[in-house]
Formats: sequence, structure tokens, C-alpha cells
Amino acid sequence: MDQPILRFRDVGYRFSDGFWGIRRVNLDLHRGELLLLAGPNGAGKTLLMRHANGLARPTEGEVLYCGENPGKAAGKIRYRIGLVFQHPEEQIIEDSVAAEIAFGPENLGIRGDKLKSLVESNLELFGLTKLADRHPMSLSGGERRRLALASVLAMEPEILLLDEPFMELDYPGVQSLLSILLQLHAEGQGICIITHDVGKVLAHGDRVALMKNGTVSVSGKPAEIVDQLEEHGVRNPCRGDIPLEQATWR
Ligand SMILES: Nc1ncnc2c1ncn2[C@@H]1O[C@H](COP(=O)(O)OP(=O)(O)OP(=O)(O)O)[C@@H](O)[C@H]1O
Ligand SMILES: [Mg+2]
Repeated sequence: MDQPILRFRDVGYRFSDGFWGIRRVNLDLHRGELLLLAGPNGAGKTLLMRHANGLARPTEGEVLYCGENPGKAAGKIRYRIGLVFQHPEEQIIEDSVAAEIAFGPENLGIRGDKLKSLVESNLELFGLTKLADRHPMSLSGGERRRLALASVLAMEPEILLLDEPFMELDYPGVQSLLSILLQLHAEGQGICIITHDVGKVLAHGDRVALMKNGTVSVSGKPAEIVDQLEEHGVRNPCRGDIPLEQATWR
């Protein structure tokens, strides 16, 4: 396999109160891979993700993006790693849906027709065209989640990291998000989905990493780890001999 695009090596983060939110995390993300990161509340999933693009700096160990440290080369690398936060309102800046999608690519120096087409195609992909002029804060939770994803994808990141992307989405919302993500993955997009709701997507994962108490304790193909889900606080969707292929909401 080629060099991992994102690599966590013995990463640990200690809060000011002395608590280690994550510790000794070793995890690689390969180009074009669909990785699922699962684990119970408080396991350290969000904190780990914040290390991916330098939003958090490790207290110990290192994070490498194609061999470079995103903390040190933040400006250059950050936009190559697209983070969609667990709470999308944390990343909304602009006062209209269209402007929000344009914000990232504009910052990367994209202008004119290319910018217009990126905005239009992402509005369309996420069913937001009719809402283009609305204030992002007036959107429903699910619409806002789609907007957050659209605005990150408009930057054409190398890796897309999604923190609990299915939260607040209704059944058709999950289905449509899943089909977009699977389509992107089929086109070669690297994706990491953080979720404790693995039953919605397990069938499609190339690999699953399971976290517990601040560390990644298991990783492997879905079939290899499925029996260890429940000891990591995650419901096993294949309980009762349900085949792995059915662990999807597509
Ligand atoms: N400022 C802080 N000081 C001390 N501990 C903190 C602080 N912020 C977060 N933590 C702790 O860090 C741990 C990891 O939190 P994190 O948000 O990464 O969990 P998570 O796996 O994303 O959980 P969830 O599924 O609930 O989103 C938790 O135990 C949390 O209480
Ligand atoms: Mg979290």
C-alpha cells in the first residue's frame, strides 16, 4: 500500500486539568479509503479528529499528513483535510447558504466561473438550490448539516472527515447523504466517518477503527471487528446472524 495520507503516531492529548482525552493513538488513513471510526460517548473521537488538521496539537506523539505535520504547516495543509463538525453551527460563518459554500473556495483563491460552478454544483448535490439565499441559521438541523458538508466539499479536500454526520437526519436524509458519500468514495474520495451508529454504514466501510477510553484499540475490516463492536459500546447491527451486507441504510 502507498504512504498513508494521514497518520497518527502515538498521539496523546492532555487537557489543562491533567485528563488525557486521547492517549497512544496509532491510526493510518490511506488514499481513497472509507474508514469508520466508532466508539462510545467520550471515547475521544472528536478530539482525535481535531488533531487531523491542526485544530488541536498533540501533547505527545505526532500527526502527519503525507509525511508533513499539519500543526506546523497549518495554512497549506488544513484545507486538504475537510472537517465537518459534529455541531455544524460551529463552522457556519456567512449570512447566506450560497455565500457559505463560496467561502472556502474563495479563500483558496478561486473566482469567477469556477467559483460559480462549484457553488451551484454543491447546492444541487445537497438539495439546497432553493435555499441558496436563506440565512444558514434559519435552516433546519438536517439542512444545516447538508450545508456544512457542501461547504467543506466545495474546497475539494483530499480527505473528508465527518463527525456524526447522520445526527439529526431523517431516514431519507440518511439515505441521500449515504448515497452521496458512497458516490464520492467510488470516485476515489478518502472519507472518515465518525459514528456510534455503525448500523447505517458498516457494510460500506473499507476499514473500521474502534476507540475506547481515549485510544484506538482495534482496527480491521468490518467482518473482522464486528464481534468487538459491543465491547466498544457500539451496537452490533449483525446480531442474530444478520448478514454484514444488510448493515446499511442505503
Ligand atoms: N476541556 C476539557 N477538559 C477536560 N476534559 C475534556 C475537555 N473537553 C473534552 N474533554 C473530555 O475528553 C474526552 C473525549 O471527548 P470527545 O469529545 O473527543 O469524545 P467523543 O468520543 O467525540 O464523544 P461523543 O460520542 O459524545 O461525541 C471526554 O471524556 C471529554 O469529557
Ligand atoms: Mg464527538
